[in-house]
Amino acid sequence: MTIDKEDDLVSLKEIGRICRMVLMHMGSLIRPGISTLELDYVGGRMLAEHGARSAPKLAYDFPGHTCISVGIVVAHGIPNDRPLKEGQLVNIDVSAEKNGYFGDCGHSFPVGEVSDEAKRLLAATEEAQKAGMMAAKAGRPVSVIGRACSRVAKRAGFNQIAGLNSHGVGRWIHEGPDIPTIYDPRKSHKLNHGDVITVEPFLSTVSRRYREAPDGWSLLLTQGGLGAQFEHSFVVTKSGPIILTV
Ligand code: CO
Ligand code: CO
Repeated sequence: MTIDKEDDLVSLKEIGRICRMVLMHMGSLIRPGISTLELDYVGGRMLAEHGARSAPKLAYDFPGHTCISVGIVVAHGIPNDRPLKEGQLVNIDVSAEKNGYFGDCGHSFPVGEVSDEAKRLLAATEEAQKAGMMAAKAGRPVSVIGRACSRVAKRAGFNQIAGLNSHGVGRWIHEGPDIPTIYDPRKSHKLNHGDVITVEPFLSTVSRRYREAPDGWSLLLTQGGLGAQFEHSFVVTKSGPIILTV
């Protein structure tokens, strides 16, 4: 969506803040032995307490309140009862609706102590997210986002997963435009003042592609390795982002 009144911003900030709060609370509970189903239960309860509805449930009938991806699963993981293990990376993606407005954010967390490579992947992915988001200014082409994300990924020596794109958000969970975080100079469509979008790069130590799992939801790294994603929803302006998921 593109914001055209102050009410839009107030409502978007409210659902954005709820999504972030739920995401970081779930993240704070991560430790070896807890299951993603337990984390999701807490997230679902918190969303309900704040009058919000899970967007993946609402929009796609997803079998969970939040998407929690572990190991080879890089996105859209279904919460399950397997205990998390020391050294794993866990991605939690919380998207939700309140009063007709949607927010969407994601964050990858370490389980206990992780390898140096895993730590570097987390740092690079978070940096790529920030770089892409800061590059998104009104009047610039959409491709500046991918250029900024790709620059960070390349410099850190990690791969990006093709086809897992960022997107418009606001009145629905996935709106146009489709925003690749891998640099594509053909994406010349200009960003407008007031556009509400996400930037969510996916980086991997090995893989460049994903495939759908037999469960019909989980997206798997095709060549293995570790994966990570960080995501914010924000409003595009001429001077930089108004971050909604804070
Ligand atoms: Co998301
Ligand atoms: Co998203």
